[in-house]
Amino acid sequence: MLSKNRESISGMFDDIAPKYDFLNHFLSFGMDILWRRRLVRRLDKKLRLRAGKDHGDNKAAILDVACGTGDLTIALARKGWSLTGVDVSEGMVEKARQKCVEKGVEASFEIASADSLPYDDGAFSAVAISFGIRNFDRRSECIDEIFRVTAPSGELMILEFAVPRCKVWRAIYLFYFKHILPLIGGMISGNRGAYRYLYESVMQFPRYEEFCKELTDAGYKNVSYESLMCGVALLYKAHKPKMRS
Ligand SMILES: C[S@@+](CC[C@H](N)C(=O)[O-])C[C@H]1O[C@@H](n2cnc3c(N)ncnc32)[C@H](O)[C@@H]1O
Repeated sequence: MLSKNRESISGMFDDIAPKYDFLNHFLSFGMDILWRRRLVRRLDKKLRLRAGKDHGDNKAAILDVACGTGDLTIALARKGWSLTGVDVSEGMVEKARQKCVEKGVEASFEIASADSLPYDDGAFSAVAISFGIRNFDRRSECIDEIFRVTAPSGELMILEFAVPRCKVWRAIYLFYFKHILPLIGGMISGNRGAYRYLYESVMQFPRYEEFCKELTDAGYKNVSYESLMCGVALLYKAHKPKMRS
């Protein structure tokens, strides 16, 4: 079993924080940027439709859980929404804060774990998570907590790595992911273990319908996913009903 307790996870991300953005873009050939953009487009559209209907909620509050160095937070804030990022790694959040200042983007950040969020019930119109959820210790408690801080009729969007279903593509992809990526990631970051962890954590994480079921069991409705790059990543979408059934 991988150790995902708060100390080991925050320690690992603190350690790779200085090189995290560069390695992310380099090792994914820039695809991570396009995937986050997809989430932003989908969520922005949903919230705009809702703002149109509600005639009021036109600066909806969004929580970016496991915000890391803030790429998703910044992209969503640039659409005009009110953004809060939360993460257990001080090193990653420090980077996110610096980037916001450099880019003139307004967002607030807090150090907290997804299983104990320091916010009121229903505080956010939407919650977004990119490449964070597979790292969560006690995932079902985290999902319950995320459900709690989401407003009734709110949205949840989650980007996470997966494993392609097509055999040929899966074999090519897994060779790169298991052997090449930890080698390059390890050389540049100085922490090969973090990139081996990436492979292991993706392999252990439930995907496709299995993860959709976890969200449905937590109370979400209309749970679905979109496949990105033929299953390298998935964008899960879920809706919190007005009333829990
Ligand atoms: C792979 S990074 C993703 C960062 C960012 N969302 C992105 O798209 O690049 C995973 C992040 O999850 C954070 N994390 C892991 N477990 C967490 C938890 N229980 N609560 C909050 N953040 C957590 C880590 O500190 C790390 O910053």
